[in-house]
Amino acid sequence: MKATITVLPGDGIGVEVTNQAMHVLSRIGTQYGHDFTFHEALIGGIAIDKTGTSLPDETLTIAEQSDAILLGAVGGPKWSDPTAPVRPEQGLLKIRKHFELFANLRPVKAYPALAQHTPLRAELLENVDILFVRELTGGAYFGPRQEQGDGDSAYDTMLYSVPEVARVAHVAFRAAQGRSKKLTSVDKANVLASMRLWRRTVGEVHEDYGDVALDHVLVDACTMYLMTRPASFDVVLAENMFGDIITDEASVLAGSLGMLPSASIGAEKFGLYEPVHGSAPDIAGQGKANPTGTLLSAAMLLRYSLGLEEEAMALEQAVEAALVSGARTADIAPRGGSYISTEEFTQTVIGAL
Ligand code: IPM
Ligand code: MG
Repeated sequence: MKATITVLPGDGIGVEVTNQAMHVLSRIGTQYGHDFTFHEALIGGIAIDKTGTSLPDETLTIAEQSDAILLGAVGGPKWSDPTAPVRPEQGLLKIRKHFELFANLRPVKAYPALAQHTPLRAELLENVDILFVRELTGGAYFGPRQEQGDGDSAYDTMLYSVPEVARVAHVAFRAAQGRSKKLTSVDKANVLASMRLWRRTVGEVHEDYGDVALDHVLVDACTMYLMTRPASFDVVLAENMFGDIITDEASVLAGSLGMLPSASIGAEKFGLYEPVHGSAPDIAGQGKANPTGTLLSAAMLLRYSLGLEEEAMALEQAVEAALVSGARTADIAPRGGSYISTEEFTQTVIGAL
C-alpha cells in the first residue's frame, strides 16, 4: 500500500526518537512491499522559534493530506515561562482538537525483564497488561476558562456532554470486547457533577455491551489500586485530566516512561501517534533516549490508521525480542551497568525484524 505519514518531531528527544521510528517504518515498508512517504513539519517550541506559533497552519495542511501523524514530544525550559502568551503544549492540544481525536489509547504492560526498575515487588507486576482509554478533547483542558484576568483568580471548567462521554465509552467497551471483557470507568462522581454525568452515561452505553463487565472506581481510590493490585485492571476508561494523571502513574509499572506508546484516534482511521514521555531536555541530543515508546506508537499507527495488523505485530515482537536479548537504553539499564544508544537500540529492533 501507499501511505503518507506526517512526522512532527517537536522538541528535545522528540527529534531523535521520531528519526529512529522513520528508519524502522521504512524498513517495514521495504520488507512488506509498502510505499511510506514521510512529510516533516513543525510543532511545539521549535515552531514558536521559527514561526511565532506552536502549531503553524502549514503543519495542519500537511497533516490533513496525510494518513496519520507520528509525533515526538513538545516543550522545554526555553519555552516554559508560564506567563508566556504562546506555549509549546498549546500546539499539541490544538492538533488533538483540530482532528477531533477524542480517544487516547495508552497500553501499559509490565515487562518481567524490567521488574527491577519499578519500585513495586515483582509479584505485583505479574500479568499486568492494561489498556487506558483517556478522553482527550473535553473536560478541564477544553472547558470555559479564565486565565491572567484580574490576576486574583482564575478558573478552568470540567465540562462534559453526554455525546462526548458516550463516544469515548464506545471505544473503551469495544476494546474491552476484544480483550478480557472487563472495563473499569474512573470518575469522581461523589463530588463533581460532570463526573456524575460521566458515570450515568457510561452506564447507559454499557447496555449495548452486555458481554462486558463494568465497574466504576473513584479516581483517588484508582491511584491506590494501580499500585496495590495493578493486575486486576484490564481496560480503564477515564476523563481527560484524570487519564493524564493515572497514565503517568501507571508508567511506573512498565519500568520506564520511555516504554509507553499512545494512539489518539477519532471517528475515522486518521490518528496521531506519540510516545507518552515528554521532550526530556536533560538528555536531548545525547543519543540516550529510549525509542521504545515511539516504535510501539509506530506499531499502533500501522494497526489503527493503515490497517496493517501483521506489520504492527511484527514490529511489537521485534521490540520485545530486542528487550529479551538484553538491549537496554540508559533508562532501563541495570544500575551502574552499561547501555546502548538510541540508534543502536533501533538497529537491534531492525535486526529482529
Ligand atoms: C500528555 C501530556 C500533555 C497532556 C501535555 C504536554 C499537554 O502530559 O500527553 O499526557 O497533558 O495531555
Ligand atoms: Mg501527561
